[in-house]
Amino acid sequence: MIIRPAKNLCGRTRVPGDKSISHRVAIISALAAGRGASRITNFSTADDCAATLECLEQLGIRIERDSNAVMIEGARNSFITPRDALDCRNSGTTMRLLAGALVAQNITATLTGDESLRSRPMRRIIEPLESMGARIESNNGRAPLRIIGRESHSLVPIRYEMPVASAQVKSCVMLAGLGALGRTQIIERGAETRDHTERMLRWFGVPVESRHEKTVEGQSLNVVSIDGMKKIMPRDYSVPGDFSSAAFLVTAAALLSRSELHIADIGLNPNRIEFLETMRAFGASIRINNLREEYGEPRGTIEVSGAERLTVTKGTTSIICGSRTASMIDELPLLAVVGTQIEGGIEIRDAAELRLKETDRIRATADNLRRMDAEIEEKADGLFVKGRVRLRGARLQSFGDHRIAMASTVAALLAEGESEIVGAECVSVSFPEFFTLLDEITQR
Ligand code: S3P
Repeated sequence: MIIRPAKNLCGRTRVPGDKSISHRVAIISALAAGRGASRITNFSTADDCAATLECLEQLGIRIERDSNAVMIEGARNSFITPRDALDCRNSGTTMRLLAGALVAQNITATLTGDESLRSRPMRRIIEPLESMGARIESNNGRAPLRIIGRESHSLVPIRYEMPVASAQVKSCVMLAGLGALGRTQIIERGAETRDHTERMLRWFGVPVESRHEKTVEGQSLNVVSIDGMKKIMPRDYSVPGDFSSAAFLVTAAALLSRSELHIADIGLNPNRIEFLETMRAFGASIRINNLREEYGEPRGTIEVSGAERLTVTKGTTSIICGSRTASMIDELPLLAVVGTQIEGGIEIRDAAELRLKETDRIRATADNLRRMDAEIEEKADGLFVKGRVRLRGARLQSFGDHRIAMASTVAALLAEGESEIVGAECVSVSFPEFFTLLDEITQR
């Protein structure tokens, strides 16, 4: 894909439904009991979410689609043994969340995926699930995962303190907890991850408690409690636009002077929008309009005006670390691009998790930005990005990773001269319409 530099981004647009929320609404609807189907509108168009739907169909869930909606009929604890392995393709969320849902089904199923997914760590879900009594065979802590399910009420609830900040792990344990007899508790210490599963279960009638506590040392804890064996009722749902997809457009608009971009109906979950706050702190002109809560999630319109230069305090490097890193996990490669444009640059730390994503996103980001003449220092757990650099168009690699392809595209829009993104088609993993939509709003 060839990307030419842009003058600005202008217009009113929307982005497709949120990927994280779409996975959850599909799986939770599939676990519903009672008559009727859940009707889901604005379901994500991402390949990852299509993988979740296909896996559910192989498990005997009835799914119907029309042009506006996906209808899912729940089967509670009567999933059927699939004939073949379930292919989660590139999607970590599909694999980790489905694993949680499957341990309480009395069937045996194998979860597999593409080469990237088969290389990603799964011990983080195997360990808590096994301590609940689940039986899982793996390839040395990686997929394929063979889940030997059991009668749901024979799972034991656990109190689990998460060793890594991961919404996928938290959600996996919650979904398993739904099938356990008693109260499962999950503790997040310090960093709090996105709470879409908590909100959605409440929407579907399952009480989930989130209690914030402080330890004697002053550390913040989030204790999530869920009682098992509660009935999920089928319900309609409308998915908000994906914040992480919108972030690419917001960034390009904020950094290109005379841009004026409005993106309506975007999910604005407080655990997802740290990136907006950070951009604002860098001086970006970003407003939220029409903020409201629907289906248990806040949503609204993001309005961005471009600036010649972002005005950060002169000379100081902006440091992103700790819980801020965790709540911007998907936006960090993009933030590194922003770092090249601001006074003092950016240092991103506590981001070792980035090395375990669809590709090693620290290495991939450093590699591409260096090709564009940026000065980058790679650290074990992050990056230092020198500020106020004139980016030069270059041949960039997606490394088969959708977020790397899109962050590199944003860098290419800001650069001098043309760039090429090799393997750009992988954007379909989360945002298939990205290039078409970008084309519609870009002025050259
Ligand atoms: C997601 C959680 C995050 C994120 C991923 C989606 C989710 O992963 O990076 O894109 O939907 O729960 P981790 O749980 O590995 O941090």
